[in-house]
Amino acid sequence: MGIIDINKVTYEYIRRDEDGNVEGITTAVNGVSLNVKAGEFIAILGHNGSGKSTLAKHINALLVPEEGSVIVDGMDTADEDKTLSIRQTAGMVFQNPDNQIIGQIVEEDVGFGPENMGVPTKEIWERVEESLRTVGMYEYRKKSPNKLSGGQKQRVSIASVIAMHPKCIVFDEPTAMLDPKGRREVIRAARALNDVENITIILITHYMEEAIYADRIFVMEEGSVVMQGTPETVFSQVDMLKSYRLDVPEVTELAWELKKAGVPIKFPILTREELKEELIRLGKR
Ligand SMILES: Nc1ncnc2c1ncn2[C@@H]1O[C@H](COP(=O)(O)OP(=O)(O)O)[C@@H](O)[C@H]1O
Ligand SMILES: [Mg+2]
Repeated sequence: MGIIDINKVTYEYIRRDEDGNVEGITTAVNGVSLNVKAGEFIAILGHNGSGKSTLAKHINALLVPEEGSVIVDGMDTADEDKTLSIRQTAGMVFQNPDNQIIGQIVEEDVGFGPENMGVPTKEIWERVEESLRTVGMYEYRKKSPNKLSGGQKQRVSIASVIAMHPKCIVFDEPTAMLDPKGRREVIRAARALNDVENITIILITHYMEEAIYADRIFVMEEGSVVMQGTPETVFSQVDMLKSYRLDVPEVTELAWELKKAGVPIKFPILTREELKEELIRLGKR
């Protein structure tokens, strides 16, 4: 069994008027099954409104499925006795760092989670230090979060999640509000957590470049998983992705254009480095 077992989950939002009459129903997640193994790095892609956030909220029991089940490290999210354990096992990082940081000082913010879990004081400080070092924010520990850049704030949010020692972290568009530098910092931190700490990562993003590091990609559209596979498999299907209003990484698009123009270029190409090597190879022929 995987660390996350999402089994035929359906979730509907029901809109009601003031009298409680049903005005409309949105099926945000429609029969989704998705299994994640411990230590995997998963990316979930999809246009706005495709159901990514609704699915993500099921992983740490912010939402409970109407149909189907979600099992996190052996715990059923429908079991209310398990909610706290589930939230410690599967942490979440959201889009807006300003909504996640509550402390006046960086180290205080990172300490809140372990403190609420009843971790002994000495260990709280050890966890705060270790978490801030992991995301490269230790030297900012005495600063006010207000003084930090967006990328730095988001790294503090990540440290606050890591301090609870989760096995899995769900990132819901963590870079959407950041500049390119902040985006790189956050993605680097997420990749390091996976590579070094072996934390399972689920990254929801609409930046295709961020998904190339994933072991597997899932594409959502209208509440369903419509594509899945390795980055190579998914990004090879340029036309299909476009039909779901998604792009491919820029270098992949360029290689695709060249291939369509008759250039015998390898496909897909996901990174600049690969594109460079391939162009050098073609130039030497
Ligand atoms: N709290 C809510 N109440 C009603 N409808 C919602 C709510 N949250 C999301 N939806 C609707 O559910 C669908 C999926 O939304 P969401 O899960 O946020 O998608 P994504 O994260 O992929 O943009 C959309 O049609 C959205 O409008
Ligand atoms: Mg969303």
